[in-house]
Amino acid sequence: MILLALACATCHPAIVAAYEHSPMARSSGPVTSLPAGSYRHTPSRTAYSIEPPDRVKIRTPLQNATQKLEYFLGSGAHGRSYLFRRGDKLFQAPITHYAQRGWGMSPGYEADDHSDWTRPVGRDCLWCHASSTRMIYGTANQYADQPFRENGITCDRCHGDTRAHAKDPAERPVNPAKLPSAARNDTCRQCHLLGLSRADKPGRSFYAYRPGGLLDELVTYQTAPQQKQSDLKVTGHFERLAMSKCQIASGDKLWCGTCHNPHPSTGKADPNQPCRTCHSAKQSHRGPDCQSCHMPKAPTPEAGHSIFTDHWIR
Ligand code: HEC
Ligand code: HEC
Ligand code: HEC
Ligand code: HEC
Ligand code: HEC
Ligand code: HEC
Ligand code: HEC
Repeated sequence: MILLALACATCHPAIVAAYEHSPMARSSGPVTSLPAGSYRHTPSRTAYSIEPPDRVKIRTPLQNATQKLEYFLGSGAHGRSYLFRRGDKLFQAPITHYAQRGWGMSPGYEADDHSDWTRPVGRDCLWCHASSTRMIYGTANQYADQPFRENGITCDRCHGDTRAHAKDPAERPVNPAKLPSAARNDTCRQCHLLGLSRADKPGRSFYAYRPGGLLDELVTYQTAPQQKQSDLKVTGHFERLAMSKCQIASGDKLWCGTCHNPHPSTGKADPNQPCRTCHSAKQSHRGPDCQSCHMPKAPTPEAGHSIFTDHWIR
């Protein structure tokens, strides 16, 4: 799976084993075998037929075509989108495989009146889902032979450059949990906050971010004031959590890592444990499963009706 993790497995076998199977580790890779299937998209009058291992047949009123899909994005926990190449240019396929309902249009393509195979895949998509990307400098969607060298999200995306450490353990890598709070939060925020928009500061670039650094020195985010349950969206976890009294009142103490360990080294933790730690008076109030009432799951329209957890705790 991850090239670098091989170097880590000798000394951190439990962590590598736990991480290997997580959605983040499996968030991208080459297509090996597509799930077979077919469906019709009415607004664009197109019939899609997916033929393993890697082809999709497209029939529109005007033409028949076949396209090879080369890479997937998404572990499949909610869904998987696909990328294809034309020369050295990378594009997104308009079809996605959803865990809950099989093949359908990719988010944002549902209402299209034609089958659109022209959406470029820029660096953003791969920054969040893959590692060691190989975009050709100054282009919108041109990549070297392999658009990314490592599948999924590698150890280095949260721990910084670990090459020196792997040779000599005394050379400490970044441990997010030991960073000052803003830098700590940024190790997750680099991928878990989309916001309304993001702009580079003069002379800076988002892509210069490395764990341990500060995103606020590189970019400005514009986030939406979210008020309603219905505003729940994909990659909105930061915005929702920031609205919680738990976050506001406990400030720096509460972060993503309070409830999530990307690679638990001792089995699956009880997700309600952090609630009980801070709310000891509520130990046995209304039942043991705190999140089922205070962090309910709801569909988000953005992700083709996948279910997400509301991080606005109330
Ligand atoms: C030769 C053995 C060895 C290899 C290879 C190795 N580590 Fe470590 N690592 C250690 C030891 C020993 C410690 C504990 C150091 C201590 O606590 O004094 C450690 C600690 C760490 C820490 C915690 C640092 C901290 O300050 O809390 C991280 C993160 C880490 N390793 C990541 C990695 C990653 C990622 C890789 C693969 C690129 C890797 N290690 C490869 C031996 C190794
Ligand atoms: C390089 C980008 C990136 C970074 C850095 C990152 N994430 Fe993720 N994370 C993702 C993507 C992409 C997914 C969706 C994976 C999928 O299902 O394909 C995800 C999924 C998750 C999930 C849901 C899946 C699961 O494992 O239960 C959790 C929880 C999560 N991330 C927590 C964190 C935390 C905590 C941090 C910071 C310590 C972090 N992430 C840092 C990109 C990232
Ligand atoms: C999505 C972010 C993320 C990724 C990817 C990630 N880690 Fe970590 N890692 C963390 C966080 C956060 C902590 C601190 C956990 C804590 O103490 O609460 C940590 C702690 C550690 C530690 C020291 C503490 C411990 O649990 O023993 C080691 C060693 C480590 N990671 C190794 C790895 C290796 C090896 C990989 C790749 C296989 C990896 N990590 C991938 C976020 C990540
Ligand atoms: C800002 C980082 C970011 C960008 C940019 C991004 N994603 Fe994601 N994506 C995520 C995260 C994080 C998740 C996990 C769900 C969440 O947090 O909402 C996710 C989830 C997904 C999933 C569902 C995975 C699963 O099974 O859980 C797919 C498919 C996906 N993204 C495809 C794409 C494609 C295609 C693009 C580019 C057009 C893209 N993403 C751009 C961060 C990003
Ligand atoms: C780091 C500590 C911390 C953690 C972890 C934490 N909370 Fe809180 N929470 C707080 C603080 C502090 C307040 C504000 C208390 C007050 O205002 O009296 C709060 C407030 C709340 C409130 C009242 C919200 C409102 O709008 O009035 C609820 C409900 C709640 N927490 C539930 C939870 C649940 C459920 C969990 C676990 C999923 C959790 N908390 C995890 C610290 C925490
Ligand atoms: C108070 C505890 C708590 C905190 C803090 C927290 N989460 Fe979660 N998170 C949860 C719970 C509980 C789930 C649902 C887990 C499940 O269903 O197995 C979840 C699920 C997720 C998922 C999976 C997709 C979904 O929406 O169900 C992602 C991604 C995620 N969290 C990201 C984050 C990020 C990023 C942060 C920091 C901004 C964060 N979480 C902070 C408790 C927390
Ligand atoms: C069956 C649904 C349900 C479950 C399970 C549940 N709660 Fe609550 N909780 C509520 C409701 C409703 C309220 C508001 C009315 C009240 O105070 O009883 C509330 C209020 C709260 C408050 C804020 C009000 C106050 O008095 O400060 C906190 C904090 C809280 N819950 C924490 C927890 C924790 C921790 C757990 C898990 C041990 C938990 N809840 C389990 C439904 C639930």
